[in-house]
Amino acid sequence: MPIRLRKLHPLIGAEVTGVDLAGPLDQATVEAVRNAWSRYGVLLFRRQPITDEQQVAFSRHFGSLEIFPQAANRSQAVPEIFRVTNVGDDNRIRPVDSPGGRYSTLIWVWHTDSSYRRVPSKGAVLHAIEVVSKGGDTLFANMCHAYRQMPAELKARIAGLRARHSFQYSRQLRQLPPMDPAEAARVPPVDHPLVRRLRDGRLSLYVSATYMERILGLSEGESRKLIDELMAWATQDAFVFRHRWHPHDVLMWDNRWCIHVVTPFDHSAERRVMHRTTIAGIEPVEG
Ligand code: SIN
Repeated sequence: MPIRLRKLHPLIGAEVTGVDLAGPLDQATVEAVRNAWSRYGVLLFRRQPITDEQQVAFSRHFGSLEIFPQAANRSQAVPEIFRVTNVGDDNRIRPVDSPGGRYSTLIWVWHTDSSYRRVPSKGAVLHAIEVVSKGGDTLFANMCHAYRQMPAELKARIAGLRARHSFQYSRQLRQLPPMDPAEAARVPPVDHPLVRRLRDGRLSLYVSATYMERILGLSEGESRKLIDELMAWATQDAFVFRHRWHPHDVLMWDNRWCIHVVTPFDHSAERRVMHRTTIAGIEPVEG
């Protein structure tokens, strides 16, 4: 059966029907999903009660998979699964002031996944297992559109600039102690251009507030001001698509030109459990 697509927002996102993510997929279906992913940036598949192994098998059609740098957030059974959750290994909600509880709120800051890597991820697949009743929506914004529409004066100010992205910095945002040194050594800080040239020639604003420590060549104050200005521009309402989750929704997104954030929820009382696979990139960020 051919896949069907329904646009979800004028700038980003489409719902896909006619695909069972649990099953083996033929080459034509994989190609159709790949094309839709690259065209719409975010794909929604509803009612997909897949296992972790099925999620990994589906994700591998689109590239090799990253392993999350902190053991604390990886599934012990399936290491390619990054547990995006406020629930601990003991199956209880993490106290909000514990390191795990604080870490789990980093998704409330806009980012593109693994921008802290020299070769950042090209995309991700996220399976909703437990969802919350209020908040916990995921918002996506289109960074090609954000760059295209950017005032010429701001474009001129960021031309040629590079930003430092760092996993350690994301931990500082939540006053967490430094990472385990062996884990930290695998993800040293990296510098990426603010304007990314994609393979098809489009230009995209490459920003990731969770990991973007500073803009090189600017003072601390100027750097912070510019990061805030760019994030505000990039995430204005008109650029943003909001997804309200239901159990067993699966979203797949492109990390090269889409950024995302989760809206806050009562993480002291409600369980939110999502399993993510992260599709590795194949090239450094080119300016
Ligand atoms: C993420 O930020 O990668 C996960 C988003 C979500 O949990 O909705």
